[in-house]
Amino acid sequence: MCGHPDIDLDHKSLFAIAARLFATKQSDVSFSVIGEVLSQLADYAGEHFAHEELLMDQADYPGCDEHICQHLEFIQKLSILIDTYERGRTDVLPELQSVLFDWLLNHTSDDDRISVSFGDRRIQA
Ligand SMILES: [Fe+2]
Repeated sequence: MCGHPDIDLDHKSLFAIAARLFATKQSDVSFSVIGEVLSQLADYAGEHFAHEELLMDQADYPGCDEHICQHLEFIQKLSILIDTYERGRTDVLPELQSVLFDWLLNHTSDDDRISVSFGDRRIQA
């Protein structure tokens, strides 16, 4: 988590969506659940990223463009996974789990923390 109460609430919601893929054995995650999670992630991530980007813009965060590129990278990865899912590929789950574990976990704990701490310093200055 990054330390901003509103953003961390968003992160908790994102992880709650993702948790459905990790709660049980991989073989117990149905194809329809993968589809639901992909759809919910696409909807919620877009909303959440817009929220973060507004806060970074308001704080004049100098790393804003790079951070937005990272959000776009996630949306692009998700879009590829949705395409793979829609072609009926049942092997989409390990890649989706990997993206969520590697990208989302690292981004929310490292990159978001850096941008939030910059905003906090601006408020204190
Ligand atoms: Fe972010």
